[in-house]
Amino acid sequence: MHLRLVREPGFLIFISQRDRIPRGSKERHTMSRRRQIYEGKAKILYEGPEPGTIIQYFKDDATAFNAQKRGTISGKGVINNRISEYVFTRLSHIGIPTHFIRRLNMREQLVRQVEIIPIEVVVRNIAAGSLSKRLGIEEGEPLPHTLIEYYYKDDALGDPLVAEEHIACFGWCSNDEMQDISSMAIRVNDFLSGMFATIHIRLVDFKLEFGRIWEGDYARVILADEISPDCCRLWDMTTGEKLDKDRFRQDLGGEEEAYQEVARRLGLLQDDAGPSEVLDLSHHRKLRTKK
Ligand SMILES: Nc1ncnc2c1ncn2[C@@H]1O[C@H](COP(=O)(O)OP(=O)(O)OP(=O)(O)O)[C@@H](O)[C@H]1O
Ligand SMILES: [Mg+2]
Repeated sequence: MHLRLVREPGFLIFISQRDRIPRGSKERHTMSRRRQIYEGKAKILYEGPEPGTIIQYFKDDATAFNAQKRGTISGKGVINNRISEYVFTRLSHIGIPTHFIRRLNMREQLVRQVEIIPIEVVVRNIAAGSLSKRLGIEEGEPLPHTLIEYYYKDDALGDPLVAEEHIACFGWCSNDEMQDISSMAIRVNDFLSGMFATIHIRLVDFKLEFGRIWEGDYARVILADEISPDCCRLWDMTTGEKLDKDRFRQDLGGEEEAYQEVARRLGLLQDDAGPSEVLDLSHHRKLRTKK
């Protein structure tokens, strides 16, 4: 039995070569043999090395407006894999249970397989996007208090906004699970708002997905999917510059640079990394601990 299906290149992030895996390499060979479970708009899921695990492969594909707009953001998958690893690790340190196990390589991470709850949980601090459009609230207006919205995950229906009553009525999750989900969403918001504020970024809103892990007859809800500039609105605190997928949605350009800027401010890239540099973060870490 293969316990590890992909070679783990430690903490190397290749900025220019991104995910080119040489023909005939062990990594390409093993990748082609493993079973694909699902291909979504931004990620591919593969069967993991052990039961109950899956591998999330982060693509550069970008979609918006329920996939009516499609494109690619070069290097996005590499950055999102790294940012999501960082955020999930920080969240686990404050006691939020997550699916994240470990990053495998530039574009892949090993996670616990969950039964996804078909609800997208959107947490909003400032009016933007569909909220502004739907209710005519000017984008950038701070909300009187944090708002949690629920959307039913169904591409064919365009992921419609639903009330808690719909969730209960159709049994998408139980009342206890709703309690866990909303309290985790608030904790995640408090923590991430602070974390981004320290790097001068305003957390405007973000989307979370949760899933069930079964332990006998008992199901536990944990945080799943990803947290990255694909599913957060992140604005520079001084300039208001958008550092997230709205650059793609609104044809603002500079999306690659924006995603890299978030990673750089989080300390995940070297400040002066040129386009062809290879960053050895383990080396970087050693230097930091020496100081
Ligand atoms: N730990 C997990 N176990 C099982 N499925 C997961 C897990 N984490 C995320 N997923 C699911 O994997 C898929 C990730 O792929 P991607 O983000 O590309 O999907 P998507 O195109 O946004 O589609 P969807 O509408 O299904 O979310 C999503 O369907 C997400 O719900
Ligand atoms: Mg998704």
